[in-house]
Amino acid sequence: MKKWLGIIALFSLVFALAACSDSSDGSGGDSDGGGESASGKVEIFSWWTGAGEEDGLLALIDLFKEEYPDIEVENAAVAGGAGTNAKAVLATRMQGDDPPSTFQVHGGAELNEGWVAADKMEPLDDFYKENDWMDKFPEELIDLVSSDGHIWSVPVDIHRGNVIFYNMKVFEENGVKVPTTFDEFFEAADKLKAAGVVPLALGDKESWTATQVFENVLLGVLGPDDYQKLFAGEIALDDAQVVEAAEKFKKILGYVNEDHASRNWQDSAQLVANGEAAMINMGDWAKGYFVNDLDMETNKDFGYFAFPDTKGDFVVITDTFGLPKGIENPKEVKKFLTLLGSVEGQDTFNPLKGSIPARVDADPSKYDQYGKDTMEDFKNARLVPSLAHGSAASAGFLTKVNQAVNIFVTQGDVDNFIQALTNASSEM
Ligand code: GAL
Repeated sequence: MKKWLGIIALFSLVFALAACSDSSDGSGGDSDGGGESASGKVEIFSWWTGAGEEDGLLALIDLFKEEYPDIEVENAAVAGGAGTNAKAVLATRMQGDDPPSTFQVHGGAELNEGWVAADKMEPLDDFYKENDWMDKFPEELIDLVSSDGHIWSVPVDIHRGNVIFYNMKVFEENGVKVPTTFDEFFEAADKLKAAGVVPLALGDKESWTATQVFENVLLGVLGPDDYQKLFAGEIALDDAQVVEAAEKFKKILGYVNEDHASRNWQDSAQLVANGEAAMINMGDWAKGYFVNDLDMETNKDFGYFAFPDTKGDFVVITDTFGLPKGIENPKEVKKFLTLLGSVEGQDTFNPLKGSIPARVDADPSKYDQYGKDTMEDFKNARLVPSLAHGSAASAGFLTKVNQAVNIFVTQGDVDNFIQALTNASSEM
C-alpha cells in the first residue's frame, strides 16, 4: 500500500495555486480528550447533499450536537457527486486562506499530493495516539492517510467502487444469471437488450461516473498488479492491455441508456430501481440511496456483485476529514474528528451511507448483508486505489482523464482516447 503514496510526483494547478498562498502556521496537534464544555463553531465541508448522500452526515451532526450542544455546526456541503463542484470551491477557499474547519478529502493522492504537499494540513500523529487509534484502523488505511512520516486525516468510511448493483426482478424475469467475467457480462447484456431492457444504467452528466466504469474495466483487464503499475508510471498508457480495456469500455458503452449525458448518478440509479435498466456500476453510496431513499430491500429488490473479472479485488474509496492549518477553533474541530473516528460515529454514519466502517472494531450487527459481505471482502481482497475518486493519481491527471473519457463516450475513437490518455500521463 506504500506504493499508493509514492504514485504521484506532480499535483494539479489547483493544488499548486493553493500552495502559493499559505503562510499560516495552524494550531498544533493536541487532543483535549473531549467531554468538558465547549463552544464555538465547526464548519463541515463536504459534497454530501441530497438523496443518497447526506443521511449519514446529518445523523453524525445530530450525534455531535447531542454531545456538544454549545458547539454550533455549520453544514457547508456543496452539491455535485464525487466533489465535482465542492473541490473547486474548496480550492478557492484554501487559496484565500479561508479554510473550512474540516473538509471531506479522499485518502491517497488527493490528500497527500494535494493538501499535505501544499502545506495546508496539521499532522494528527499525537491525536491518533491520544485517541488510542493506532490499532483501530487497518494499517493500509493509516498508510493511505499518511505521508512524510505523519498522519493527516481521519477516515470515516470505506466505499467500494468495483461493484455492480442489479434489479433482482429484472434479472429473474429475463432468466439472467449474475455474471462474473466480461464474456458472461456481455452475454447477459445481450439478453437484456433483446428483451427491451437497458442493460447498464449510466448517468455521466458529471464525467466521473464513466471514468469509474473505465477504471473498473482497467482493473478487470490488467489485474491488480498491473493496475497499480499503470498509475505508478511503470506501464505506459498506450500499452496493449490499456487498448484492450478501451475496446471493452467502448463495447460496454453500447449497452447504456441513451439519455446518459443528462443524468447524474442518482437519476441513473433510479433506472435500476424502477426496472428500466438492469444494472449499474456505482460505488456503494448507491446502496445507501437504494435503501434509505428509495426504500428498497437488500437482496430482495436489488442484488450486487463484483465488476466483471475483479472478484478478488476491492477498489477502495475512503472519505476522510483532517485539520486544516490556520483555523480558529481546532479544539472544537478535534471533538468532531474524535466522534467521526469513534465506533459510535462510524456505526451511525456508515449504515446510512452504504459504506463500511473504517475501524476494525465496529459492530457488524449494525450493517445489512451487503455491509457484512463487504466487510469480509475488504479483509480478504486485494485493495487498490480509485482513480475516479482521486486516490490513485493526481488531481491534474484525473481532470484530463475525465475530459478524455467524456469525449470517448461520444466519439468512441479508441486511438484518440489512448492518445489523450498518453498525453495526460505527464501530469501523473
Ligand atoms: C465519492 C465519495 C462518496 C460519495 C460519492 C458520490 O467521491 O467518496 O462518499 O459521496 O463520491 O458523490
